[in-house]
Amino acid sequence: MAVQASGTKTEQLMAKRDAFVARGVALAPIVADHGHGARLTDVDGKEYVDFAGGIGVLNLGHTPDAVVDAIKHQADKMLHSCFPVAAYEPYLEVAQLLCENTPGTHAKKALLINSGAEAVENAVKIARYHTGRDGVITFDRGFHGRTLLTMTLTSKLVYKKGMGPFAPEIYRAPAPYPYRGVTTKDALKGLEFIFKAHVDPQSVACVVLEPVQGEGGFTVMPAEFIEGVMALCEQHGILYVDDEVQSGMGRTGKLWALDHYGLVPDLMTVGKSLAAGMPLAGVIGRAEVMDSVHLGGLGSTYGGNPVACAAAVESIKAIASEAFLAQATAFGEEIMARLNGMAERHQVIGEVRGIGPMAAIELVKDRETREPAADVATATVAGALERGLLLLKTGIYDNVLRILVPITATEEDLELGLDRLEESLAAAA
Ligand SMILES: Cc1ncc(COP(=O)(O)O)c(C=O)c1O
Repeated sequence: MAVQASGTKTEQLMAKRDAFVARGVALAPIVADHGHGARLTDVDGKEYVDFAGGIGVLNLGHTPDAVVDAIKHQADKMLHSCFPVAAYEPYLEVAQLLCENTPGTHAKKALLINSGAEAVENAVKIARYHTGRDGVITFDRGFHGRTLLTMTLTSKLVYKKGMGPFAPEIYRAPAPYPYRGVTTKDALKGLEFIFKAHVDPQSVACVVLEPVQGEGGFTVMPAEFIEGVMALCEQHGILYVDDEVQSGMGRTGKLWALDHYGLVPDLMTVGKSLAAGMPLAGVIGRAEVMDSVHLGGLGSTYGGNPVACAAAVESIKAIASEAFLAQATAFGEEIMARLNGMAERHQVIGEVRGIGPMAAIELVKDRETREPAADVATATVAGALERGLLLLKTGIYDNVLRILVPITATEEDLELGLDRLEESLAAAA
């Protein structure tokens, strides 16, 4: 097939994308060439401030030096052996770091795999194995991945329409969304109703919940909700799976979002910024739960690849440092102050929300009716791109703008990005 040979390099490469890449993959607006810190440069030399952060993968920014050095060093030594064939040190080190740096002081064990979806999928497998039960509780607006099971757990049609039948024994409960009228009380009642009407709680293996919903619109779960869900889990012998694939790794100003609540899950799923851009994810959980699965029951060819693990060792150490988390907290305060200021100037902002630098604004056509303003969100993202800012939408109604700026951004990057965001919003609204 002939592809376009004239035009800008971006146009030529986009024509190639059109010719050879499956249409279902969301259409990227630019073709990236290189990045460092919070800046990304496209193949025609245009530079962007990156507030998309590879969808939460770049909390440490593009090409962090220590991570890149570790990748090069490991690449020279060994690219792959397959952990079940020949174990290696970087996997063991990541497993230890994760067990030692996740909530709770009890004995833990970890499993490393390739993606967030695989992490959630494995957490459910382990929970089912351990409990001998089938049922899984998921929540409105949750996003857990695109495999058959995790797509079933996910609540947004764009990720699943036309792709059923879905996995069985999945029950969806409401999650609080105070801005749209769902209170903690309503949501807990909804879960209790499910246990009366739809599934015997004694048949439920686990609940899977994001403490701050990522693709669901950066909705923060109130502490009383998580505590209420955990109490029901305890009452019925159900395992609590904390999905921190997007909210983890310093995104909220603490290493894990659940650290803000002082609560301890049975199992946890991590990914994204774990290896600063190398594909790596993990499940960490109570040793007795993780160890219940028989030998050979877990694993994958590439899972815990040595190069990805070498990257993760540096990434975890950097992100778990006091300096990094203090910077994340400071960014969070600055971003929230700026977004609240914008809300005073722009009626289109219905709500500012988030925890720390995991912050977002929900756009509405009218503050009274709260009708979602997806068109303004789309126009803001497009305007931002023209102004040199990469920005992402989120939420069921596609009307939330989220900030996933690298925590290693300079003060100038942050200010410039926020200025471009406000200019784009003003122009779009
Ligand atoms: C909370 C959460 N869980 C799971 C996933 C799936 O991760 P992956 O895309 O690496 O499969 C995502 C991805 O955005 C996520 O945000």
